[in-house]
Amino acid sequence: MTGNELRAKYIEFFKTKNHQEIKGKSLIPENDPTVLFTTAGMHPLVPFILGETHPAGTRLVNYQKCIRTGDIDAVGDPHHLTFFEMLGNWSLGDYFKEEAIRMSFEFLTSPEWLGISKDLLSVTVFAGDDEVERDETSAGIWRELGMPEERIYFLPREDNWWGPAGQTGPCGPDSEMFIDTGREACGPDCRPGCSCGKYFEIWNDVFMQYNKQEDGSFPEMERRCVDTGMGIERTSAILQGKQSVYETEAFLPLIDAVEQVAKAKYGDGEDSDISIRIITDHVKTSTMILGDEQGVTPSNVGQGYILRRLIRRALRHGRKLGVEGIFLGNIASIVIDLYKGIYPLLEEKRDFILKEFVAEEEKFLHTLQKGEHEFEKLLPNLMKSSKRIIPGRLAFKLYDTYGFPIEITEELAAEHDFTVDREGFEKAYKKHQELSKQGAEKTFKGGLADQSELTTALHTATHMLHKALRTVLGEHVMQKGSNITTERLRFDFNHPDKMTPEEIKQVEDIVNEQIQRNLPVTMEIMDLEQAKAEGAIAFFADKYEEQVKVYTIGDFSKEVCGGPHVENTGNMGTFKIKKEQSSSAGVRRIRAVLQK
Ligand code: ALA
Repeated sequence: MTGNELRAKYIEFFKTKNHQEIKGKSLIPENDPTVLFTTAGMHPLVPFILGETHPAGTRLVNYQKCIRTGDIDAVGDPHHLTFFEMLGNWSLGDYFKEEAIRMSFEFLTSPEWLGISKDLLSVTVFAGDDEVERDETSAGIWRELGMPEERIYFLPREDNWWGPAGQTGPCGPDSEMFIDTGREACGPDCRPGCSCGKYFEIWNDVFMQYNKQEDGSFPEMERRCVDTGMGIERTSAILQGKQSVYETEAFLPLIDAVEQVAKAKYGDGEDSDISIRIITDHVKTSTMILGDEQGVTPSNVGQGYILRRLIRRALRHGRKLGVEGIFLGNIASIVIDLYKGIYPLLEEKRDFILKEFVAEEEKFLHTLQKGEHEFEKLLPNLMKSSKRIIPGRLAFKLYDTYGFPIEITEELAAEHDFTVDREGFEKAYKKHQELSKQGAEKTFKGGLADQSELTTALHTATHMLHKALRTVLGEHVMQKGSNITTERLRFDFNHPDKMTPEEIKQVEDIVNEQIQRNLPVTMEIMDLEQAKAEGAIAFFADKYEEQVKVYTIGDFSKEVCGGPHVENTGNMGTFKIKKEQSSSAGVRRIRAVLQK
């Protein structure tokens, strides 16, 4: 069964169980600064899990593109991927453990659906700890379904607890399903969750019961939800009897393309296999980032920096395999061919994607040349010492100043009979990372995920700003991006010119006047067509479901949006624009706050 067949079956199965199919969202989270990328299918649904009404109802199913870069260094083994697609079904205050587990079991084992032998399945449930009780309910349901006691594992929080997606938000105990691949157990303690490869996790049912707060407490949510996740790549690999996700149709054409330019064949040996996997994974992820609804390009910050690292790492592994020039665009082109049926935007953005690859590859090759040059300059001095060791701080300087990867420094060093003080380099690198991590934590604190009063008010202020900009600058103004923290809102919109101080003042005045009118904010669910007919602002039209939520602020603004919003504008405070600047060509960026 191919990944696409699995996708179709999953959606169809849950439709027979009265689920509505909803569309997946962008890889770049909207209004959530706590993470850089959408990391799970549940991520875009956080507001609805926390209580917002979803226009498509309380039983939902979809597939979602996801990126996890936390373990980027683990990519290269047979299982890790940075980009993957997740199938999921959701209950928003509808069914809970009983029905969720029964449906999972039916989909996995019924001959009509996946038809996996019950004898190959084992499951895990939450063992309980000081804060949350042992999940006997889930274990009981598995027993009723005929799961033998020895294949129900009670595991601690580090294994059987999920979420929140950011630092705060919905979370709860989960029950995971594993397939026994038939391999030898690695030892007497081998069990689901062990990384030796005997047990392959294919599905996770999460029982969202708690809403983690910034202070670390776990209050219960009023409405319990279910969030599930099945990775398409992993599950289709196991259904095809493959030992690795890289041996499926989602990767084989990419591996072929690498083999055509590299001096290596997949299966040749440990090191070259690792490089080939890294190249295919990283090019796929980069293509998906470039081909996303929200335009991200390589840069030195945020998502753009991850994109840059992925492309450069792929290129470097290409060099390891003996590829000289630029070559990633060809592979990206195959990624587009593989996925354009599911994500048509990739085809629309093909030229842009390929151009960005070439530009970044050229830039990096230039960096490498510059770095090589710097290295040569260092040599005479280094030769004077008899030790033939490149000090760690020098290796770090090459890395930090010229973007020169340590592995390349090592390669060059070896060519001149030098070694690199790797320990010294790691030390300098760690120190640097700690500093930038502190910086990142500062950036990421707060977020819409915690639904605090302030972020909600800023969200309402964003709608009001949007409307005021259209009034002052003209109807051509459209939202291009929005991001909210507990401190401020940030709003990107298209407009050719810098705003004048008068225009800024006018926009502030309009928003504040409307705030003071204490307008009621109301929500209605309607067809997208009707919403447009009623004059609701609706962008990213292809991203909406047929049924949408429309938020109306008095007689002032009407906009399609997922929420949440304040009930009345009266207590929002005073709206103030702090900064107006260029964001990219033809796009302006405003940062604004609400002052009490
Ligand atoms: N959110 C859960 C996961 O990612 C389903 O595993």
